[in-house]
Amino acid sequence: MSGDGEIRLVAPAKINLALHITGLRKDGYHLLETVAVFTEFGDRLSLKPAVEDRLFVTGPYSATIPSGPDNIILRALALYRDITGSLTPRVSIALEKNLPAAAGIGGGSSDAAAFLKAFDRMCSSTAGYEGLHAIGHRLGADLPMCLQASPLIAKGIGEQIEPLDQFPRLALVLVNPGVEIPTPAVFKALGANRNPPLPQLNAGLTPRAVAEWLMATRNDLEAPAKILFPKIEEARYRLEETSASFVRMSGSGATFFGIFSDLEAARNAAETIAMKRPDWFVVATETLASGDIHEPDR
Ligand code: C5P
Repeated sequence: MSGDGEIRLVAPAKINLALHITGLRKDGYHLLETVAVFTEFGDRLSLKPAVEDRLFVTGPYSATIPSGPDNIILRALALYRDITGSLTPRVSIALEKNLPAAAGIGGGSSDAAAFLKAFDRMCSSTAGYEGLHAIGHRLGADLPMCLQASPLIAKGIGEQIEPLDQFPRLALVLVNPGVEIPTPAVFKALGANRNPPLPQLNAGLTPRAVAEWLMATRNDLEAPAKILFPKIEEARYRLEETSASFVRMSGSGATFFGIFSDLEAARNAAETIAMKRPDWFVVATETLASGDIHEPDR
């Protein structure tokens, strides 16, 4: 926290390296098994005590999200006050929206998770870990993962989190062809929902071994997303034309990721793709390894 009580935090992209849909609950939510990692690159949040609550949204994707009470950060703030029942400070929130919305990389969920962690810090941990998870559950299935924000396996509908030990940093390129995809439509278009679970994942993998393990895994949402939005396939082709050792769609799309030998290779590939498709979201970044966290105030 800086002198004036400001807290800054990155809200990273959540990348589903693998996403297996293994069943359907009676309430319509799907059971899944996913390996998720989080990137250095992300939205940027800053919180300051203020006289009244305010949210300012800037950044390249600011126009794609609501800035009023429907914004997931303000919904998280309202739930925080409901649950803690405490007189929490009024807060001025600045969000730099660098991640595209409805993109399969958890943008809104990650913003809400980062906000909750930062605001709880501002409130001297009034809600604490349990409270934040209780609020998170009410905001979306990806929230528990985004609160963890380090390499993990999630099961159930995404709420059963197993942090992964010794998961390496990966150099990635993220590519989104500018197509917003509504997650419920993709789940609805999913054919089979009782698919095989994730294969065993051993600790201590190298990036190359992760890419090899991923060959035996799937994203079960990639096929239905492409049926609904065929043009997103070009994002996969563009990554496959580069030196990526592995390419796949994240979440319900339409962001694809490629895994590279190092950040320099990722940057070269991103430059090539961005030259061909200057209007797309194309970013080279690294993922957080086990034990790394986005520290507040950086
Ligand atoms: O929970 P969240 O709002 O992120 O989910 C959006 C939609 O995605 C849900 O309304 C549901 O249609 C679908 N979904 C699902 N199974 C999950 C997660 C999401 O069917 N495990």
